[in-house]
Amino acid sequence: MTELGLRNDVYRRPLATALGRLGLAEGGRCVDVGAGGGDVSVALAEVVGRSGRVYAVDSDPRARDEAAGAAAAHTQVVVITQAAEDLTLPEAVDLAFCRFLLMHVLDPVTVLRRMGRAVRPGGWVVAQEPITSAGRIAGSPLSMPGARHPDVGALLPALVRDAGLEVVDAWAEAPAGAGPGPVADYLASLTEVDPGDDPVVLPPLVTVVARRS
Ligand SMILES: C[S@@+](CC[C@H](N)C(=O)[O-])C[C@H]1O[C@@H](n2cnc3c(N)ncnc32)[C@H](O)[C@@H]1O
Repeated sequence: MTELGLRNDVYRRPLATALGRLGLAEGGRCVDVGAGGGDVSVALAEVVGRSGRVYAVDSDPRARDEAAGAAAAHTQVVVITQAAEDLTLPEAVDLAFCRFLLMHVLDPVTVLRRMGRAVRPGGWVVAQEPITSAGRIAGSPLSMPGARHPDVGALLPALVRDAGLEVVDAWAEAPAGAGPGPVADYLASLTEVDPGDDPVVLPPLVTVVARRS
């Protein structure tokens, strides 16, 4: 298994649960929308193998180099600079995936609709988004003032339905810990505050698995 980096380390379980739920196979075609550093793209590339294809899409041209670097060993990853609102791919895909994206976009439903249009009929749309304020340090709620919709995870099943997709499954998972370890390191990298020995529950990630009917 390739080392996928810190974010994927702490949020590895929700990603693995979602990918296991789909039964995505070798040769599959997918898109990782808002790919950022490419952690999810690499995980998808490992599942679909060299005969598959992963489009890593991000609106920030700087993400292109980051995602390309992360996926250097995976020739099946194609990095594209494009806004999620304009998502257009060279082919229909089996799966459109986004993680920590809808919290930043102007209109999450517009993006989900666009993801729905990118998949083949019967294909999957999967979104993983946080409920930031449900995270805790020493019992106090977390916040993320820089995000447009920090708690979008709490609305996710309804937003997916509003985008015209059929919700097949939905659940939430949150990494937690106390003292030194990946959870404390991750929080410190996000906030530049070391939680020390305080107990931490990171923002639960709501996963919605949906189908284009
Ligand atoms: C917090 S990062 C998440 C990266 C990755 N999905 C992950 O889970 O590690 C959010 C990413 O979404 C991208 N992004 C924000 N708004 C976007 C939009 N409208 N279209 C495409 N990408 C966008 C940002 O450039 C950033 O790389």
